[in-house]
Amino acid sequence: MNILSPSILAADCARLGEQIDLAHGAGAKYLHIDIMDGMFVPAISFGMCVVSSLRKATGMVFDVHLMVEDPIRYVEEFASGGADIITVHLEACRDVGQTLERIRSLGKRVGLSIKPATPVSEAAPYLDRIDMLLIMTVEPGFGGQKYIAASTERIREARRIIADRGLDVDVEVDGGITRDNLKEVLEAGANVIVAGSAVFSGDIAENVQGMMETMETGV
Ligand code: DX5
Ligand code: ZN
Repeated sequence: MNILSPSILAADCARLGEQIDLAHGAGAKYLHIDIMDGMFVPAISFGMCVVSSLRKATGMVFDVHLMVEDPIRYVEEFASGGADIITVHLEACRDVGQTLERIRSLGKRVGLSIKPATPVSEAAPYLDRIDMLLIMTVEPGFGGQKYIAASTERIREARRIIADRGLDVDVEVDGGITRDNLKEVLEAGANVIVAGSAVFSGDIAENVQGMMETMETGV
């Protein structure tokens, strides 16, 4: 199933609840929440209080993307704060397997992410322990960047390995996704689509509907 996950990094923080309701009302099921620690990536974004407050405001599936150094330190807090999917970066973990296991033990869905320069083969050993592989299609850290063209081949490679091994793993893409390259990433094998600027710039409901139409019909 193809799923749209609007990234609130591009939302108006003063009107977060309202903008999320618009995206949800237009059909988005997931909400992508970027947590940045100023270490793994230069920027700082949201903290726990944003997640737990939003949890009370919406029933959307919380897709929490931890761009945080040594993320095992925080998975418990995000799990109890309302995350449904917790994604950690392979490059940020001291012990990847243990971190994934901790997320699983908390009853949450497990995501693993790789930056553009990390070979897909490095994530391959963990595919049987995760629910979602997040392939960064820009350098993590900022919204509004341009899609890195070489990502398409990486998506294809990941989908091929997952299919060859008969696994049921979602492939999520994040960064620079617009209505113009959406078809390309879907065809390569992505099925969870993060979009920040493409959703929250302009008419939110219209943006969501437009993207979902492409995801459902392929046009
Ligand atoms: C970037 C974040 C993304 C970001 C995407 O590090 O992980 O989720 O919000 O923003 P757009 O869709 O504007 O590239
Ligand atoms: Zn993200």
